[in-house]
Amino acid sequence: MTGELSPIDKAKFAAAKRSVEFIEDGMKVGLGTGSTAAWMVRCLGERVRNERLRIKGVPTSARTAVLARDVGISVISLDEAKWLDVTIDGADEFDGAFNLIKGGGGAHLQEKIVATASDRMIVITDASKEVETLGAFPLPIEVIPFGWQTSKALVEELLISMDVMGRETTLRMNGDVPFISDEGNHIIDLHLNRIGNARQLSMALNQIPGVVENGLFIDICDTVVIGYGDGRVETR
Ligand code: 5RP
Repeated sequence: MTGELSPIDKAKFAAAKRSVEFIEDGMKVGLGTGSTAAWMVRCLGERVRNERLRIKGVPTSARTAVLARDVGISVISLDEAKWLDVTIDGADEFDGAFNLIKGGGGAHLQEKIVATASDRMIVITDASKEVETLGAFPLPIEVIPFGWQTSKALVEELLISMDVMGRETTLRMNGDVPFISDEGNHIIDLHLNRIGNARQLSMALNQIPGVVENGLFIDICDTVVIGYGDGRVETR
């Protein structure tokens, strides 16, 4: 399954492989998005095929849904599942309290809904994503296309009023055109450097008209599985 991998991909694979050991027969599982989550979906598919596990997967993006079906995982919607035993997903940053920045792949809206509807959220990651304070990775916010420039201006005003360090905001692009999320929205990336009060910022951002969701996951993740390039894994 792995072929020749770079150290970072070996680390992601190691974390992904370990994380699927948490899955038991009959579970309903949220399936994250991104390169680490894709390894997890492949590893889970292998268990489903080898052990005939009867699990149901709820994907957090169209691309994860395609991969899950490809590897033999039975896919249902969140509304069919209603509540999940566990969600396993990657992250762009995590801190000592297991608060996260997600959305580097533009899927944080569905990812947050699915993770919040789960008994637990397991994050799988390589060690480079651990930070003292969140914010070096650009914080994504999903905005509806209608009036997005107004929403962006309101976000910039908020950042000034909250005295946030970095205030640059950029519309995420896909080549020459704006990136479009699975929900048909745009993503604005906030280059903040350091987020002093992530909980307060998250709540304030979601009050802005046009903002659908931001990439801060506060008090949602309870377990982090960290993979290393030499194949070691640490679970916290
Ligand atoms: C997608 C995400 C991803 O989990 C995050 O970007 C990490 O991606 P990768 O595993 O490829 O490093 O939040 O919206």
